[in-house]
Amino acid sequence: MSRMSPERSAALAEIIHAEMPGLPVEAHDAASGHPLCVVGFGPEEVLAATEVMLTTEVTMGARVRAFEAVWAARCEKRHGVMVNSGSSANLLLLAGLVETGHLAPGDEVLVPAVGWSTTLFPVAQVGLVPVLVDVDPTTLCLCPKSAAAARTDRTRAVFAVHLLGQAAEMAPYDDLLVLEDACGAHGATIGGRPVGAIGLGATFSFFFSHHITTMEGGIVVTDDDALADALRSLRAHGWTRERSDRKALEAASPEIDPRFLFVSPGYNLRPTEVAAAFGLVQDRRLDAWVARRRSNHADWCARLAAIPGLTVFPEAPGTTHAGFAFPMLVEGDRAGCMAALEARGIATRPVSGSNLARQPAFARVPSRTPVPLPVADAVHTRGFFVGNSHAFGPDHGARLAAALTSWSSS
Ligand SMILES: Cc1ncc(COP(=O)(O)O)c(C=O)c1O
Repeated sequence: MSRMSPERSAALAEIIHAEMPGLPVEAHDAASGHPLCVVGFGPEEVLAATEVMLTTEVTMGARVRAFEAVWAARCEKRHGVMVNSGSSANLLLLAGLVETGHLAPGDEVLVPAVGWSTTLFPVAQVGLVPVLVDVDPTTLCLCPKSAAAARTDRTRAVFAVHLLGQAAEMAPYDDLLVLEDACGAHGATIGGRPVGAIGLGATFSFFFSHHITTMEGGIVVTDDDALADALRSLRAHGWTRERSDRKALEAASPEIDPRFLFVSPGYNLRPTEVAAAFGLVQDRRLDAWVARRRSNHADWCARLAAIPGLTVFPEAPGTTHAGFAFPMLVEGDRAGCMAALEARGIATRPVSGSNLARQPAFARVPSRTPVPLPVADAVHTRGFFVGNSHAFGPDHGARLAAALTSWSSS
């Protein structure tokens, strides 16, 4: 797609490789610390991005379509609609479901209490009612039993979050629409199928710190043709470009110039060609990187399982873990434990938004919390995570185990 000659492209590659010799961190040295993430792009991505900029074709186009096709195929779906973040993907999916009549304002959507803020907020932003349910104590993902207890005759959908790389149990939810927030679970599987394949719609984030990155970025995948058309309109101003039914819509409004024909109350959530160029390179790296993250997760669980006062979360049966980050629960002084790790160069964070019902913004979200949330509360007060990465390995597990053993025995 680049207009550069092969010779000039090779010369540019040489300059970039001289500045950035290889992926910055293929094998991170555990002795230097344990950050939340390591930079996961290198000269190939920078070359691809630079070549796109040199073509001047930077706005959404052929590379975005190519990346959408690659990612949709990964998720065993027909359609991918790329956007500028995972949060935008969640907003777009929910808005698209309302636009197509799958959901109507006032319908209730079951959402796990432990997740990310922008899984929850977009539900209310499009006029749906989020209903918080508890998470499972072994996976920290949405608990089907709690979901069943929270259901009313207004409940229409369940929005499961595959938290930090663990695939959520996708119970038979009968007549409910099933949606997946897989923003932190690229490459995880459940029952032999990739996350993203199960729901009517699923979302992913390609933020800098995720399994693969487009710098900022996200995508919605679905098999539903009408939903995909609605998503393409809503992503770009509400106009008709890229819709499969564009001609019929134009014919229905002959008095309006088809170049500026608006058929849905849309947003502008478009990605750039530069982001898609990154994504096309990054996608080739994903399988090997997820395998390494999964192996780290299993190794670290084994090393830490016997430490008194600590709970870890091994891969759930029937799933493969994508190892986005490594969550733990501690008995007693969580702040002291996190401080002890930070003092040894091991970065920590709360488990995502923890119990979102306890976040100040939640008071302003029209919602219901009809069931008790004891596991979410435990996560809120006793949980934290440390980073996982394709560039980490057993040395990071050994350092983590040493730090936590020392904290536990102090
Ligand atoms: C579960 C979940 N949903 C949504 C998001 C939002 O993605 P983004 O940061 O790309 O907006 C994240 C971000 O990490 C996430 O973990």
